Amino acid sequence: MLECPFPDATHPMTRKILVTSALPYANGAIHLGHLVEYIQTDIWVRFQKMRGHECWYVCADDTHGTPVMLRAEKEGITPEALIARVHGEHSRDFAGFHVRFDNYYTTHSAETRDCANNIYRRLRDAGLIEKRTIEQYYDPVKEMFLPDRFIKGGCPKCAAPDQYGDNCEHCGAAYTPNDLRNPYSAVSGAKPELRRSEHYFFKLSDARCQAFLRRWTQGEGRLQAEAANKLQEWLGAGENAGEESRLTDWDISRDAPYFGFEIPDAPGKYFYVWLDAPIGYMGSFRNLCAREGLDFDEFWEAGSQTELYHFIGKDILYFHALFWPAELEHAGYRTPNKVFAHGFLTVDGAKMSKSRGTFITAESYLQQGLNPEWLRYYFAAKLTDTMEDLDLNLDDFIARVNSDLVGKFVNIASRSAGFVVKRFAGQLSTCDESLPAFRLIRERGAAIAALYEAREFGKAVREIMALTDAANQYVDSVKPWELAKREGRGTDLHAACTNALNLFRQLAILLKPVLPALAAEVESFLNVAPFAWSDIGTTLAAGHAIKPYEHLMARVDKKQVDALVGANRGSLVATPPAPQKHAEKQEKAAAVAVAQAAVPSADGTHISIDDFMKVDLRIARISEATPVEGADKLVRLVLDIGAGGKRQVFAGIKAAYDPAQLVGRLTVMAANLAPRKMKFGLSEGMVLAASDPGNETPGIFLLSPDAGAQPGMRVK
Ligand code: 2FM
Ligand code: ZN
Repeated sequence: MLECPFPDATHPMTRKILVTSALPYANGAIHLGHLVEYIQTDIWVRFQKMRGHECWYVCADDTHGTPVMLRAEKEGITPEALIARVHGEHSRDFAGFHVRFDNYYTTHSAETRDCANNIYRRLRDAGLIEKRTIEQYYDPVKEMFLPDRFIKGGCPKCAAPDQYGDNCEHCGAAYTPNDLRNPYSAVSGAKPELRRSEHYFFKLSDARCQAFLRRWTQGEGRLQAEAANKLQEWLGAGENAGEESRLTDWDISRDAPYFGFEIPDAPGKYFYVWLDAPIGYMGSFRNLCAREGLDFDEFWEAGSQTELYHFIGKDILYFHALFWPAELEHAGYRTPNKVFAHGFLTVDGAKMSKSRGTFITAESYLQQGLNPEWLRYYFAAKLTDTMEDLDLNLDDFIARVNSDLVGKFVNIASRSAGFVVKRFAGQLSTCDESLPAFRLIRERGAAIAALYEAREFGKAVREIMALTDAANQYVDSVKPWELAKREGRGTDLHAACTNALNLFRQLAILLKPVLPALAAEVESFLNVAPFAWSDIGTTLAAGHAIKPYEHLMARVDKKQVDALVGANRGSLVATPPAPQKHAEKQEKAAAVAVAQAAVPSADGTHISIDDFMKVDLRIARISEATPVEGADKLVRLVLDIGAGGKRQVFAGIKAAYDPAQLVGRLTVMAANLAPRKMKFGLSEGMVLAASDPGNETPGIFLLSPDAGAQPGMRVK
């Protein structure tokens, strides 16, 4: 069995702990995948607080970088306005799931800027910052350097078209944008040019960083075994083994225009978002220090006796276990005690998917009226201390919540509390502490604490459910509902209900880190102070008065889960036909034209090759894509077909495509259709797309040629 790693004899009674979760980007909604981490961290933090430790949980929005800048531009607002709005949305979603930060801040803050400048100056003074001229792709239309994710083109390995500049979603190959075939800017569609620019690098290849990281990453218990192995791979075997270091210097600057912090001694150069993101942990904490009167240095200076833990997803291990500790160490700060990485969330065994409706946002879960503590319990029941992925199986979710929480746990209170209120004026009698279920709880309490401490929440929940079974066995054996019907058994009934409620109280204490809102309701109806871990093994005094009991938790109804999935199936769900006005009819006609273009002849008749050759199909580059005012389904495309010039086409593809994402991509168009006058303008052709109108979610899939095809080429 796991021991608590901080036995009281060797560790101060009250630990000082600073905990962080990864900072979510300020350009997207919180979804259930995010929540695995925040719920995991929140459970751990609540456990530490219940143990009486001084534990601070900070987080913030990760606000800088090109995606935030472009998103704001697309919405026609300033980045500041965008991040303020998203901060409100994220705060609302986290609070909705009872994720209780001590501070939820922003990286776009004076505190983070000061900390970033300070770290940069200290690294520079230590000789670990170097300027170097590099060549990078530049969008001559948008007049900005392009991050790898904003350059697309053909995969150099498998030739799949429209792949991102860093890796291929088709074959998984990793490469640099320089390797792409026919690269184009995903922002404007323009052909990017290589331009030179001076960048700032953090010299990770420096012998000091190498030596430090080799030592640090292998530190006892600092990283999970799997993570430590990964790091070893990244770091290489080291000089002793005669192998060259695999660590290369890290490019920490970006050129204007960029939404971020300008580097102090480098006008026009900005800190790369990943440089100031983890510094946002410090910034958020500094802000908390000002509010709570805490000593920032006590937590961050080198040699700090406080504890620092980062909860992260396994995808950002590189940043947290290499760049971040190296920065801290060489800027004279303390480094994290441990980095805890978790796996990804799958739903029903597969990657979350918008078309299947399993890419579920936090907001929609709450809006559909599902109880956030159902999810907290389910995640807790499946969480381990490893980096393994966690599956949310929707049927299992319903079954487990209904059976464990409602059928077993809440049932103890609902079978006993009413009698105490009705028959004994709400007053308890003396609890029999010698009951086997009590003995078990006393015996297992320390082990359950050790499991919480070790982030083995699944094992902790199993232990607690075994104790819940023992408590139910007691209730089943004394049958309060039968005692209540019998004359002269009042004392027995009183004792049975008192014991049951005391057992229930113990279980609520053990579950409180996972179910904080439910625990608060239990505290309220039992009329007691907030539970602390030290309450385990104690009982309520005879004569203690409880308040009227109200049912604590409803069962999950499968219909609610189906509705949630339906609500997240998003824009691909077919909307029922409504009476159409003229413009809507035209819009629908265009949508159908696109959708049916690739559907084979259903009646089995054939056409001659000559008939087929009458259709002039051409490779087209989408040079403009804009929404059409007053038409929900339409996108106005300008298609470049090389020598054939440019054509305006209205396509009914808005449900499946964000117009901005279309610019620059290649597709196929029917170029010799008679032009059609629509309410919105002249439509001079048709783009080809696949669809399955017989399917509940027909989808719309634009055709793309393989890499190498050029605008204007004939398709036949
Ligand atoms: O991967 C992400 O979502 C990043 N926004 C996480 C940043 S964590 C920390 F370093 F700030
Ligand atoms: Zn590929």
